[in-house]
Amino acid sequence: MQVTMTVNGSEVTREIEPRLLLVHFLRDVLELTGTHWGCDTSNCGACVVLMDGEPVKSCTVLAAMAGGHAVRTVEDMERDGELDPVQQGFMEEHGLQCGFCTPGMIMTARALLDANPNPSDDEIREAISGQICRCTGYTNIVKAIRWAAGQQKAAVAEDLERELEIHGDR
Ligand code: FES
Ligand code: FES
Repeated sequence: MQVTMTVNGSEVTREIEPRLLLVHFLRDVLELTGTHWGCDTSNCGACVVLMDGEPVKSCTVLAAMAGGHAVRTVEDMERDGELDPVQQGFMEEHGLQCGFCTPGMIMTARALLDANPNPSDDEIREAISGQICRCTGYTNIVKAIRWAAGQQKAAVAEDLERELEIHGDR
């Protein structure tokens, strides 16, 4: 069968087997190996990508089901050479060790901050509760997401300040 979807802003059409999972479509067909495949039983969350802005475990979605939808993977997080604040947060707060869970954590965090720019620690923990990290113990992951939230808030305040200066309101 043929499937067409948008992946990281570009429309792609491929001939696939109906049983192909989205995680394998991304990794093996499109060679976007940033999305990890950890368990295949919907437990680990390493495979999380965004579908129409919502985090989904791509090992539980058929590629055919993603037809007509917009998929975003970790490869799309860096824009014009600049890392997403969530990626920066993981660097700043050392939110990873082996990095296997990191792409999924980053995508979930991105969706969280898009929906709730100022989450509490409990809300962060709840958002990543479907994802397993075998290394860091979660504390630094929560710190990394909190760092990203603070960074975004500061960037918005800076933009506002600049706007006010441009319009001579100050
Ligand atoms: S590979 Fe999808 S949840 Fe583990
Ligand atoms: S950093 Fe190793 S699994 Fe999370």
